Amino acid sequence: MDKFLESAEKYYFHYPFPVTIVGTLYEDKSNFMAAAWHTQLSFDPPLYAVSISPKRYSKELIDKSGAFSLNFLKFDDYKLAGFVGRTSGRDHRKEEIFDIQYDIGTKLNVPVLKIAVGCYECKVVDKRPFGDHILYVGEIVGIHYDSNYYKDGISTDMLLYIGNDMYTHAEGALVKFGKQEVQEVLKELKGKKEI
Ligand SMILES: Cc1cc2nc3c(=O)[nH]c(=O)nc-3n(C[C@H](O)[C@H](O)[C@H](O)COP(=O)(O)O)c2cc1C
Repeated sequence: MDKFLESAEKYYFHYPFPVTIVGTLYEDKSNFMAAAWHTQLSFDPPLYAVSISPKRYSKELIDKSGAFSLNFLKFDDYKLAGFVGRTSGRDHRKEEIFDIQYDIGTKLNVPVLKIAVGCYECKVVDKRPFGDHILYVGEIVGIHYDSNYYKDGISTDMLLYIGNDMYTHAEGALVKFGKQEVQEVLKELKGKKEI
């Protein structure tokens, strides 16, 4: 590497991230926003976190409802991420202007996008501010997925965000390199190197 930054106002060197559409419902208000800052935290219990700026209208609705959905999209549906990620529910009823269709969750009062290939219904179990964002930790209480899309549980065409309003995907890029493959390499190396 030929460059070094001691600090940066914004940093995207670790991208891409899968895009998730955070869905919220409170009373008669539904809302959707795009989020790239999210992560799985635990299998048991199944915990998933998303980092949301206090400026977002979605934050207000999550605080009131105590729940949110995380909806994952195919690459082809990147425009929805732009639509809900570059407009605020404070100014627009996004589901009306962008014709966003959803069902109500099975376990929680959260929107499950019809266009999504996967969706987690999350109950807020914790929230903490970190710098200029708030980390919402949700317990996944229900999972919806499209079995035609996830082949053997694997997705290769998920919508990925690389920053600067640019999207990509990894269709066709599939390699397996796990314990078995590593063991084979180790066996080969044993003959050649001191390991
Ligand atoms: C691809 C993409 C990823 C984003 N990721 C996040 C994120 O992780 N956290 C966040 O607070 N805002 C994120 N945003 C910005 C919000 O989606 C955006 O501010 C949105 O307008 C908020 O809508 P709301 O005010 O209706 O909640 C992202 C936007 C885009 C386009």
